[in-house]
Amino acid sequence: MKELLKKLTLKEKLGQLTQLAPHFFNEQLKAKLYGKIKDLEINYEELFYLGSILGIGGPKEKKELQDLYLKNSKSKIPLLFMGDVIHGCKTIYPVPLAQACSFNVELVKENAKMAAREAKAFGLDVTFSPMSDLVRDPRWGRVIESYGEDPYLNYSFSKATAKGYQEEGLISCVKHFAAYGLSEAGRDYNTVDLSRVNLFNYYLSGYQGALEGGSEMVMTAFNTFEYLPATINRYLLTNIIRENWGYDEAVIIADYDALLQTKAHGVTKDDKDAAVKGILAGLDIEMASTAYLRTLEAAIKKDKRIIKAIDEAVLRVLKLKEKANLFNNAFSGDDKLLAELINSKEHQNLSYQLAVESVVLLKNENNILPLNKNIKVALLGNYATSNDLLGAWSWYGDTSQTKALNDFFEVEYLSNGEDYQDYDLEKIKKIEAIILTLGEEAKESGEARSKANINLKYSQVKLIKKLKKLGKPLILILFSGRPLILTEIIKDVDALFNVFFLGSNSSKAIYDLVYGSVNPSGKLAMTFPRSVGQIPLYYNHLRTGRPFLNDGNPYSSHYLDEKNEPLFPFGFGLSYSSFVYEDLKIDKSSFTLDELPTIKITILNESKFAGKEVVMLFIKDEIASISRPVKELKQFKKVSFQAGERKEISFKLKYQDLAFYNQDLNYQVEAGDFLVMVADKSLKITLKGDENEDFK
Ligand code: BGC
Repeated sequence: MKELLKKLTLKEKLGQLTQLAPHFFNEQLKAKLYGKIKDLEINYEELFYLGSILGIGGPKEKKELQDLYLKNSKSKIPLLFMGDVIHGCKTIYPVPLAQACSFNVELVKENAKMAAREAKAFGLDVTFSPMSDLVRDPRWGRVIESYGEDPYLNYSFSKATAKGYQEEGLISCVKHFAAYGLSEAGRDYNTVDLSRVNLFNYYLSGYQGALEGGSEMVMTAFNTFEYLPATINRYLLTNIIRENWGYDEAVIIADYDALLQTKAHGVTKDDKDAAVKGILAGLDIEMASTAYLRTLEAAIKKDKRIIKAIDEAVLRVLKLKEKANLFNNAFSGDDKLLAELINSKEHQNLSYQLAVESVVLLKNENNILPLNKNIKVALLGNYATSNDLLGAWSWYGDTSQTKALNDFFEVEYLSNGEDYQDYDLEKIKKIEAIILTLGEEAKESGEARSKANINLKYSQVKLIKKLKKLGKPLILILFSGRPLILTEIIKDVDALFNVFFLGSNSSKAIYDLVYGSVNPSGKLAMTFPRSVGQIPLYYNHLRTGRPFLNDGNPYSSHYLDEKNEPLFPFGFGLSYSSFVYEDLKIDKSSFTLDELPTIKITILNESKFAGKEVVMLFIKDEIASISRPVKELKQFKKVSFQAGERKEISFKLKYQDLAFYNQDLNYQVEAGDFLVMVADKSLKITLKGDENEDFK
């Protein structure tokens, strides 16, 4: 590729670092216009210098565009096609926040592989996924795209997802580097401010997982880090990704228009300033703007470092194109194969399996669920007949192919009315149970969909309260893009399934769960607060010097008007089985790093339902050189149990389970005591060593 690089003119090089949407070509073609494209300040002819394309309408459109491009481009280096395949290409599986609730890393990886096969057949080379932003604020609309509040879960799912894509030959671009999930007050695009200790211990884990899983690209975040936008932040892009972590070939792309937004941040004075700061920070590709192409030539004369940075960036892009096999096959994409894949049993089944495992049963009073098929039910609410079940970020998914709940449920009475007045009460009185479906609409979450009020809508609360008065068992199926505040209605419903959005096979999954042909096994990947004022609320918080002990001391960390506890904590989720955690054991409670202990727990499925249980191992570092969380998830296993089956599950401790970044950002383990916790059982273990001894 070095030879190819040498042959390129400066303009051709800069073109390789520029990405635009395909409609610029198409609009021009349709209108038969030539000359300046106003928005971008480049000429039609200059489009044939571009290096990559954002989004495409399918294999046919891709081939036409590639063909047009190659005929007109002087360098003849094929375009790379990138797009947002976030939770499936055509076959849509659950949104990432729901996926994380499955705690099933293997299944998520298989779904990512399915997405990759379809995306490749669709004509894409790169997907802008996984989104590995750690999230602790459900007001932020983009929590739906994340794997939730836990760094280790985020790491595990980011890694599995990236691996899945890469194994099928789809390049993964992890985003948004870094700490975008910390947007203040949950308002999208808002300020982010965090310490390096926080960044390294918690916020970087997801991106690290994706890169370990094979992501070849990284997208920058819209926010600042240490008061400098991530897109021009050399510490983030070059020092951390390329030098510290050693991913020197990773191609770094700006998020949409983010390079020019540095002007709005007040840190660059014009496009040229932004372009210079971007390229010197280590930013390779500019998305949806053309500052590199228009301004860097003039800047080079003043600063020799710029041409070196351009060459390095272009080389990285060319190598990526080589990895994507573009020089052998620029026209990948296959309509026929795509149709076969979408309709294949394998793909439909994968999305169904993950949908089943992503649902979290939050309440099941008197074991009303699973429902007996002979019980007469009413199916009510705006999701009763809706096929708009795919969720945000499912561009290529087809709702017309998605079955609604009423395609599965046999009901005595059906209505998609959103208001009590819409229902025929005489008919409802004759039934034995109500299945009510409601929550947020798909458009209420995703990018730029932040909310200050995440209570269940007032009209929906009113509806629940009125239906409750009918005295029939009330089963709520709750759709949403974020944890909602359910405090007002939790007492009114007998059973509650939190589903978020489950994708193409939502309805069958929900039907099978309600009637018990499958057993719920999802656990919350994000805390459900009791009220908005508690946010940010997450289980793995630090300790406070004045903990609330409920001993009457007013000078303790608490609210006057609210509990500290959430409504439902991270990790919560019921099953039709009942799992009894019997015996927590360790082979040695005092150990060295050369001989890490194994922890064992015996679990009994004391029920007549076969089911899966997520067994989670938490650790608390009792005393360390910096304050450490009250507990942290370090390992988990999803285990199948037959009815009545008893199993012993073991966890071999790893260095990473005990290590953290200290104040000097050294990743190390400190000798001393740790508390190991599995469900409500705990035991103390001790790493032998001198006080203050660090193990790097
Ligand atoms: C989003 C990214 C996305 C990009 C391209 C941006 O607005 O923040 O997540 O990948 O658009 O569609």
